[in-house]
Amino acid sequence: MNRYIKKLITDPSGYIQSNLRELKYQVNQWYYSGFMHIVLALKGVRANKAVFYNKSNFYRCPESTIKIGQNCIFDSSKHHNMIGVNSCCIVATLSKQAQLTIGNASGFSGVKIGCFQSITIGDDCLTGANVLITDSDWHPIDPARRHEFGEDAPIATRPVKIGNNVFIGVNSIILKGTTIGNNSVIGAGSVVSGTIPANVIAAGNPCKVIKSL
Ligand SMILES: CC(C)(COP(=O)(O)OP(=O)(O)OC[C@H]1O[C@@H](n2cnc3c(N)ncnc32)[C@H](O)[C@@H]1OP(=O)(O)O)[C@@H](O)C(=O)NCCC(=O)NCCS
Repeated sequence: MNRYIKKLITDPSGYIQSNLRELKYQVNQWYYSGFMHIVLALKGVRANKAVFYNKSNFYRCPESTIKIGQNCIFDSSKHHNMIGVNSCCIVATLSKQAQLTIGNASGFSGVKIGCFQSITIGDDCLTGANVLITDSDWHPIDPARRHEFGEDAPIATRPVKIGNNVFIGVNSIILKGTTIGNNSVIGAGSVVSGTIPANVIAAGNPCKVIKSL
């Protein structure tokens, strides 16, 4: 008997809903990838062969750069990966000098990336749902200047560098000045500020190395 028929007989409702789901997201991916490539071209963002589920929100500040390698995935669908994506992917450069670079084949689910100076993310990274990555405090720390915004405001920024094949757990926050070495894993819900070496598992708030890989 055909393998597919055998599966259907074993669990008809399970296999029918799973195939319908697959079809739904094939169509979603096809439609939104086409749409997003037009939007990104108009915004001056390079994202060769990127795949999109639902609409992502990209903003490129004039004169800044957003470069995305080949075959990245931006998942903004609330239900596609079943982990609970809270909002669409938001990828933004927020100053003229900002440089955001993402390598090849990295995947993002409802990620928020806010780049004021420099954020580099390597190849093959997996970024769990709702992760925030930013290289800036967004507001001045000095109480007297706290409400200033714009180019002359004294807002602290420090580059963020995430290596290749890094896996960042769901709901983690990557703060300014963070470096994460190749292959490392950041536990779910971590708050990372500083340097995490290559080939380790690190977790918690503040994020600390818990074991080597
Ligand atoms: C970090 C992680 C990979 C560690 O898994 P593990 O190697 O099996 O580690 P363990 O469960 O044995 O935990 C080891 C220690 O780290 C702690 N720990 C594990 N994950 C942690 C986390 N996210 N935050 C804080 N501490 C954590 C454990 O409490 C334990 O502490 P103890 O030794 O004092 O008891 C896993 O906990 C995790 O967070 N996975 C990410 C899941 C995820 O977000 N997926 C993305 C889906 S989109």
